[in-house]
Amino acid sequence: MNNFVGRFYHITTYGCQMNVHESEKIRAALQSLGMLETNDVNLAKVIVFNTCCVREGAEDRAYNNIVTLQSIKKEDPGKIIAICGCMPQQKKGKYNLAEKLPFVDIIIGTHNINQLAQYVKDYAKTKRRVIEIVDKPKGKMDFNTPVRDDHINAYVNIIYGCDKYCTYCIVPYVRGRETSRPPKEIYEEVKDLVQNQGYKYITLLGQNVNSYGKDLVDTMSFSELLSFLCTIEGDFKIKFMTSHPMDLGDDLIKVMKNEYKVAKTLHLPVQSGSDKVLQKMNRHYNIKHYKSIIRKARKAMPTISLSTDIIVGFPGEDEKDFNQTLKLLKKVKYDQVFAFSYSKRSGTPATEFDGQIEEKEKNLRLNKLLRLQKIIQQDNLKKYFKQTYDCLIQQINGVAVGITDGGKEIYIPGYKYFNQNYFAPVQVEGVRNHKLSGVINDRKR
Ligand code: SAH
Ligand code: SF4
Ligand code: F3S
Repeated sequence: MNNFVGRFYHITTYGCQMNVHESEKIRAALQSLGMLETNDVNLAKVIVFNTCCVREGAEDRAYNNIVTLQSIKKEDPGKIIAICGCMPQQKKGKYNLAEKLPFVDIIIGTHNINQLAQYVKDYAKTKRRVIEIVDKPKGKMDFNTPVRDDHINAYVNIIYGCDKYCTYCIVPYVRGRETSRPPKEIYEEVKDLVQNQGYKYITLLGQNVNSYGKDLVDTMSFSELLSFLCTIEGDFKIKFMTSHPMDLGDDLIKVMKNEYKVAKTLHLPVQSGSDKVLQKMNRHYNIKHYKSIIRKARKAMPTISLSTDIIVGFPGEDEKDFNQTLKLLKKVKYDQVFAFSYSKRSGTPATEFDGQIEEKEKNLRLNKLLRLQKIIQQDNLKKYFKQTYDCLIQQINGVAVGITDGGKEIYIPGYKYFNQNYFAPVQVEGVRNHKLSGVINDRKR
């Protein structure tokens, strides 16, 4: 094969679903060079690190792992090592990658990830180091038909970038401005995934999906896009992430309620339970507004699964603010909470704010919050009793299991018809030892 660079490649991915999905595109690009994936770095000729910098911990983890490749490269100088994604895209990252990692051959950012295969080919030919960080997307970001990991759930990008500039967050600086994909393109991709490839869930991705369409000439709102995608025939459901509370309107709740194909699950990051902190975070909503969205969503869809993101120890967060966050968790009783200790990101405004909190105190708060949420989640199980959830029926260890839209497993003892993945309503009949069991209830659909 004339493009041949080597037999195997290896990709390590850090960060959010966006990155996971981008790695699926990188995979396709490398496979177009005739390469195969391996999970053995020693075997790989091309080694890619797709990185994240949302918190310092994510950066440190990637950096420390990349450093270990130095010896591998020494042993076999023919290997090609590439770093891409959010970490190199930062203006003032913690590490000066090009200088500190001289054995890395290719360093690119988020906007030219679509050129990676070309860079690999060029490097293989010339052995000239490629260090290229650009400010704007270099060509189309949907650069290859992704080679997906998962065969049940498929990620589909609908909007790139973020214009929100929350004061703690690096994402707008490393992902650029909001850019929506044309609806027809998304429609065709989803149709193919559902009708030709048998996917059961489509997860639409964007840093803020509610901003979808605002930048398009033939504009279409996010809720309109959902309705449009629901016209695709097939037995599938649509999930999406992430929603910003500021732009989430009643139209979205209405579409979620009315469209059977939209999964009844919502990830709605609140970040803090204190209005004072939310304002300093530049989140543009208060807790009263946030709670009103939750109330409306639950009223429209009583069994909806809710999850959120929380940052503890944001600069200036005092005991009272923190307690308001705990109070919010007790009130909403989320099905899942992703909580993080505030991490200073250079170049973001909050890094300069007064009232920075010590690591030790942040960790104490984080642990306290996680302990509370654990109790809430255990207690939440009660609410499943006698409720009916539309589930994807799957087989786990020879037993039928219904997976709710929120990802909870309901065992269906004695049920035999589970050779294929399909959706069916399951009524919960038992809650024991943190496990749910139930029966198929076809009359409810
Ligand atoms: N666009 C999404 C995801 C952003 S990153 C959204 O707006 O929700 C995912 C989560 O990481 C954020 O919701 C936030 O809770 C957390 N995060 C972002 N920057 C952070 C920082 N500097 N320190 C700690 N957590 C952070
Ligand atoms: Fe970051 Fe805020 Fe954008 Fe989310 S909405 S990616 S938290 S700036
Ligand atoms: Fe991380 Fe970049 Fe995602 S910073 S969270 S991989 S957008």
